[in-house]
Amino acid sequence: MVKKWWQEAVGYEIYCKSFCDSNGDGIGDLQGVKSKLEILRDLGVTCIWFAPIYKSPQVDNGYDVADYQDIEPAYGTLEDFKEVLEKAHSLGIRVIMDMVLNHSSDEHPWFVESRKSKDNPYRNYYIWQPPREDGSEPNNWGNVFYEGNGSAWTLDETTGEYYLHLYSAKMPDLNWEYEPLRQEIYKMLHWWLDLGVDGFRLDVFNRFKKTPGFPDSKKEASELDLDRYRMDPAMFTHVEGIHDLIHGLYKNVFGPRDCFTVGEGANMTWDLAPDYTLPEREELVSLYHFQLSSRMRDTITPELFRTVQTKYWEKVTEKGGWIIQYMSNHDSQRQVSCYGDEAYRARSAKLLAALTFTSPGIPFIYQGEEIGMTNVRFDSIEDYNCCYTLGSYQSLLKKGKSVEEAMDYIATRSRDNARTPYQWNDSANAGFTTGKPWLKVNPNYKEINLEQDLSSPDSIFRFYQSLAALRREHPALTEGDLILYLPEDEKVLMYTRKCDGETVLVVANFTSTPAPFALPEEMKGREFKLLLSNMEEGRALSEKSELAPWEAAVYLL
Ligand code: GLC
Ligand code: CA
Repeated sequence: MVKKWWQEAVGYEIYCKSFCDSNGDGIGDLQGVKSKLEILRDLGVTCIWFAPIYKSPQVDNGYDVADYQDIEPAYGTLEDFKEVLEKAHSLGIRVIMDMVLNHSSDEHPWFVESRKSKDNPYRNYYIWQPPREDGSEPNNWGNVFYEGNGSAWTLDETTGEYYLHLYSAKMPDLNWEYEPLRQEIYKMLHWWLDLGVDGFRLDVFNRFKKTPGFPDSKKEASELDLDRYRMDPAMFTHVEGIHDLIHGLYKNVFGPRDCFTVGEGANMTWDLAPDYTLPEREELVSLYHFQLSSRMRDTITPELFRTVQTKYWEKVTEKGGWIIQYMSNHDSQRQVSCYGDEAYRARSAKLLAALTFTSPGIPFIYQGEEIGMTNVRFDSIEDYNCCYTLGSYQSLLKKGKSVEEAMDYIATRSRDNARTPYQWNDSANAGFTTGKPWLKVNPNYKEINLEQDLSSPDSIFRFYQSLAALRREHPALTEGDLILYLPEDEKVLMYTRKCDGETVLVVANFTSTPAPFALPEEMKGREFKLLLSNMEEGRALSEKSELAPWEAAVYLL
C-alpha cells in the first residue's frame, strides 16, 4: 500500500481566538498564526487543524457558522488565510479545516431563508416539526448546552413550527435527509480542497442522523437535565443510517480527492469505531474517541490506558484504520492538571506526551500543551465565556444548587480551562495581545510561558521536539505492533512497538509516588539503549528497577 502523508503526521490544533493577536484587538487572528508558524515547524508539527475560523456570530466561538466559505472578520480575510496556507505548506505543514456540518448558525443565509415560510426552497435544509396538540415541543429532547429551558426545540413564530437544535438555539441542525443540502455540502468541501487545504476534521459527524419519527427519550434525568427535557445522546448519535451519510461524503468528496479526514467521535467506542475507519468501509481516515480524553474523565488508570489502547489497536489500527492519540483539546481541561500532577508539572506533562507520541495512531497536540499550560479557576461567572459552562451553571442554580456549588462544578468542567490565551512570555497578557484579551489570561503566565520553558533545562517544548524526532527516526513508532506488558500493574505502564526487527520499549510511572517493578521474563538479559527520558539523568533499565514519580523513558531493544 502506498504510504499517505498522515501516517507519519504530528498534528497540532490551533484555537485561533486564543493563539496570537497581531493587531491589539484582544482576539487572536490569522496574521498572528502566520507569525508563529516557524515555531510550530520547529516543534515538529506537520499538520495543523484549525478550529472553525469561518464567519460566525461566535455564540460557540465559531462552531456556529454563518458562511462556510468566508473567514471570520475578527480573524482576517480569505487573503490572510491563503497567506497562512501558503506559508504553512512552504514549511512542510499541512492544513486541515474544521467542518461543522451537523448544524449552522441561525444567521446563515440558508436558515434566514428556511424560517421565512413552509414552502421556502430552503425550508428542508433544517429540521422542522409541528408542535404537539398542547402546543409544546415535538418531543422531550434536551439540548447539549442545557441552554434556556433545556429543550432541543425552539418555536419559530413566523410559521408556528419548531426547529431542532441539539446545541444552542442559535445553532439549528441541518437536515441530512435532504439531498439538495448534501449536494451543497459536497460542493463546498470541494471548494476548500480546490483552495489547497489538505483535509477536514468533521465536527460531531456521528450525529448527522437523528432517530426517525423523533420519539421521546426514556432516559432518567441527569444532574443537569431540566424539567421534562432529557439530553440523551442515544437519540441522535450513531443512529442507524449514519454510515450511508458518511459513505456518501466519501464517494462524493473524500475518496476522489484522497484527502485526510478525522471525525470527532462523540460517544465513540472501540466496537463502533471500525465501521467508520477501516479502509474497506470507505468512510473516514481516522477518528477521535473520548475514552482517554480529559473532557470525559478526571483520571486515567494504567488499567484503563492498557484496555483502551489494546482494544483500538486490535480493532482499528492493526487493521489499517487510524485513531488520533491525544488527551485534550479546546473542549476539555488542560491535560497536565487533569491527568498529570501540577506538583510535578514538567515531568508529568512529558510523561503524557510520551504516551501520546508512542501509542499507535496519529498524535495531535493541543496548543499550550507543549509548554505545560494548566487549568484556570475564575472567581466570578462573569469571567467565563463558554456557552456550555454558562448553561450548566444556570441549570444547576435552577435546580437549587448554591452559587458556590455551581462554581465548583464548572471549575474543572469548563472548556475555558483550555481556551485561555496562549502564554508566549512574561510580558503583559502573556504576550498574547497588547490590548484587552477576549478571555482572561491564566494568572500563572509569569512562571508558565514559552520563553521561560525554552530557557529551562526542564523544557517541555524540547521534549516534544525529541518525541517528534523519535517518530521520524524509528518506524516502529509509526508502524509497529503494540504489545502491552505488566497487565496487572497499578502504577507502571510498559509496552513495546515493534516492526522489521526494531523494537521500541516505553516505560512510565503513571503516579506521584515511586513505583518498583520487575522486567518481564522475556526481556531479561536484553540490551536496552536509552532513547529519551523525562528525568534529569536518564537511567539504565536493570532487571529490578524503580521508577520515580511520573518517570517515563523510551528505549531501543
Ligand atoms: C464539538 C466541538 C465543540 C462544539 C460542538 C458543537 O464537540 O468540538 O467545541 O461546541 O461540537 O459544534
Ligand atoms: Ca486580532
